[in-house]
Formats: sequence, C-alpha cells, structure tokens
Amino acid sequence: MNAGIIGIGRYLPEKIVTNADLEKIVDTSDEWIQTRTGIKERRIASDDIDTSDMAFFAAEKAISNAGLTALDIELIIVATVTPDSPFPSVACLVQERLGANNAAAMDIGAACAGFMYGMVTAQQFIQTGTYKNVLVIGVEKLSKITDWNDRNTAVLFGDGAAAAVMAPVSKGRGILSFELGADGVGAKHLYQDEYIIMNGREVFKFAVRQMGESAVSVIEKAGLTKDDVDFLVPHQANIRIMEASRQRLELPEEKMSKTVDKYGNTSSSSIPIALVEELEKGNIKDDDVVVMVGFGGGLTWGAIALKWGK
Ligand code: UT7
Repeated sequence: MNAGIIGIGRYLPEKIVTNADLEKIVDTSDEWIQTRTGIKERRIASDDIDTSDMAFFAAEKAISNAGLTALDIELIIVATVTPDSPFPSVACLVQERLGANNAAAMDIGAACAGFMYGMVTAQQFIQTGTYKNVLVIGVEKLSKITDWNDRNTAVLFGDGAAAAVMAPVSKGRGILSFELGADGVGAKHLYQDEYIIMNGREVFKFAVRQMGESAVSVIEKAGLTKDDVDFLVPHQANIRIMEASRQRLELPEEKMSKTVDKYGNTSSSSIPIALVEELEKGNIKDDDVVVMVGFGGGLTWGAIALKWGK
C-alpha cells in the first residue's frame, strides 16, 4: 500500500518582521542578511498564538482539503521543537481542538528534519494497514526560543505551521523512497539552552553536504535519475544551502521552491509550507516527482521522493 498526501494546508502569522526592523534591534544590515541567507522578512506569531494554535489552524485546512472530517484521522504526528510545554504533546492539544476523538497522538523531535521523520513514520503505519488517515503537522514558534540580542541567530528564524493528511494512494503514487539519518556527534553545533545556540559555519558545511547526498540517495533508491525530478522542495534555511542542493540535482532555478525570502527558516514547518505554496502556484501537478530534503539540529536529516497525487 503506497502512502501519499491527500490534503494539505498551512498557517502563517500575519505579523511581518523585515530586515530593516531587525537593524533596529541588533548590529546587522539588510544587505548582510540578504546576501548571506536570502531572507528579506519573516512572520512572527503574537503572544496569544502558541505552537498548538498554529498547528490547529493548519490541520483544519489540511483535513478539509482532504475532504475528510477530524473523526477520520487515526493518528496525529506533530513535528516540533517548540511545543507549548514539554507535555502534554502538541498533538494531544490539537486532537482536542479538532475533536479528532479517534486519533492517537504524539510529537516527534527531529528539528528541521522533523517533517520528513513525521511523514516516514506515518507511511509505516499506512503501509502496514494499521491506520488509514494520518495527520502530520510541522509547526514552530521559534520566536519564543530566539535570543533577539544574538545577531547570529535572530535574523534567521520565523514562525509557521503546515499540515498534511497522509493516506493510501493509487499505485505508483505517494512516497517512492526515503532516507532518514542522524549524527549525534554534531549535537553541539545546534541546540537549545534557554535560546537557540548555533555554530553557523559547522551547520552550513554539514547542510551543504547532507542535503545534496540525501537528495541523490532518494532518487537512486526510487530507481530514478536526476532527469526524472520535477520539483525540489528543500528545507528553507539559507538560499546558499538550497542552491547547493539544486545544483547537485542539476535542476533549473524554477524547479526549486524558494520561500526563505518571505518566511525565513521555520524549521520543521518549512518544507510543508513551501509545498503548499508550490501547489497553490500550480507548480506541482499530479504525477510530478517531488524531492523533499531537510536537515537540522541533532544533527538530523531526511529526504523523501514522492510522486504527487492521490
Ligand atoms: O535549520 C538549520 C538551522 N541553521 C542553519 O541553517 C544555519 C546554517 N548556517 C548558515 O546559514 C550561515 O553559516 C550563517 C547565515 C548563519 C552565517 O553565514 P556565514 O557566511 O557562515 O557567516 P559567518 O558565520 O562566517 O560570519 C561572517 C561574518 C562574521 O564577522 P567576522 O568574524 O568575519 O568579522 C560574523 O560576526 O558575519 C558576521 N555576522 C553578521 N553580520 C551582520 C554574523 N551574523 C551577522 C548578522 N549581521 N546577522
């Protein structure tokens, strides 16, 4: 049984914080941020919107987009490193708000690779016939763990959420292959103390190497070649890292999703937020081969090759 995405939705906070706004807070410049990261602005959630609120808003859209009701969902997986509190899980809070009374619920933490880990976990339950409809959410309120006085990190991150309903899809469609990985030796390069602490250089080097390798790996595992790839949706961390993976796949610019300029790095929600954007623009159509690839704190990484469509 192939597992694919049958419905998807996203939520982005309304408040826009531009690079010019950040120039007033830390010693930085719009020019530095744009040339080093590709980011122009990011969305920041207001104090009364927490992670579970954003997750709920995105989930409602995904379930309706799938043509289902909350009672059809049998498992909720939330990928996040910024839960409302250590427990209960964000997944349980979302379950209650949705009225998804038939669903089991859990959070997983794989940082920016979290949505890849969530999708693959969902796939395992669907492939075995255990569950039919699984809701996977990537959501972060990174603004609450960002040190707004640290220019190394304050300029990079944003808040947002996106959700996908995964279910059995027709033969040949859905997840074709995946790769998940971790290297705890690199844990020291990106972690949360009170706020996010990052060795940007080390993460950058790791990301450039790993994004390319994982993308190539899932293409090979699926029995495809680079020419078969219709669209690349990389984790939106930094345009320079994303460009490296695009070039590794020898794809033209218009075949790579780019939302980092508008939303910054939204960690586990960045890949599904970008996916929704491309679907809305009509850039991804049925039977297109989409490669998604992410990396993050842990260190973790994950990639999926998916043939779009139900
Ligand atoms: O989802 C995973 C999360 N993390 C990432 O994806 C981060 C990966 N790393 C990166 O994206 C890049 O390493 C950064 C964007 C964080 C930094 O870019 P870089 O080209 O690696 O710059 P750098 O760290 O080598 O710093 C270059 C200079 C330094 O000054 P000196 O030592 O050369 O005088 C920094 O102090 O830029 C300075 N700098 C800044 N200047 C203005 C660092 N941050 C800023 C800033 N504004 N915000």
